[in-house]
Amino acid sequence: MLAKNPYRGKYVVFEGIDGSGKDTQISLLEPELIKKSIKYVRTAEPTTFLPTGLLIKALLRGRYNFDPRTTTLLFLADSHEHLRLKVIPHLKKGHWVISSRSFLSTLAYQTTLGVEEEFIESILDRLDFILPDTIILLDVDAETALSRKGKEKVKQIYEEKDFLENVRTAYLKFAKRFDFIHVIDGSRDPFEIAEDVRRILGFI
Ligand SMILES: Nc1ncnc2c1ncn2[C@@H]1O[C@H](COP(=O)(O)OP(=O)(O)OP(=O)(O)O)[C@@H](O)[C@H]1O
Ligand SMILES: [Mg+2]
Repeated sequence: MLAKNPYRGKYVVFEGIDGSGKDTQISLLEPELIKKSIKYVRTAEPTTFLPTGLLIKALLRGRYNFDPRTTTLLFLADSHEHLRLKVIPHLKKGHWVISSRSFLSTLAYQTTLGVEEEFIESILDRLDFILPDTIILLDVDAETALSRKGKEKVKQIYEEKDFLENVRTAYLKFAKRFDFIHVIDGSRDPFEIAEDVRRILGFI
């Protein structure tokens, strides 16, 4: 199915529902990478530098009521171009790539919206996606995650409790399938979580 990362650099992805703490943990990891003189790039999906990412952003803020399958195609298009244009070029140079989200978000969110897993997997196959070396799944219940996001002004269509609880369950299901997905309890103190992350990455 999906190919392993064949390049020199390490591809590390943070996953979890909205508000699970992905960006917080990436920010706590950055000083460690700098201390170790690891060349890296910080990035995210949906992208902010491609028109596909901008389209998705509009979709998430609006009430367009797209067919979940066409939304899925948009996410996968953005993810694929992100890999081609940013992730892979850095990996080829031996840089680490640290990303908030990946194809796994599409699997978790869009299957929760009723899209067939096979539909997504067939596209992942045909577009030659590569797998991250490590995915860190920050597991938090929807209520906790949403209460963290409560401070933000702009609400997105996926930020609804029952839906996010189902996405969480989907994430945990996929995590059992891949041995490179490490599930950690994201409800704890951010610094405790960051220590787990350093352990998973072999830093301590
Ligand atoms: N372990 C934690 N404990 C308490 N609050 C946290 C923790 N981690 C992050 N937060 C807070 O929760 C909010 C959301 O965190 P963050 O932006 O890192 O999540 P995210 O997973 O990147 O969210 P999104 O999916 O929306 O991008 C922020 O206000 C952040 O300070
Ligand atoms: Mg984030």
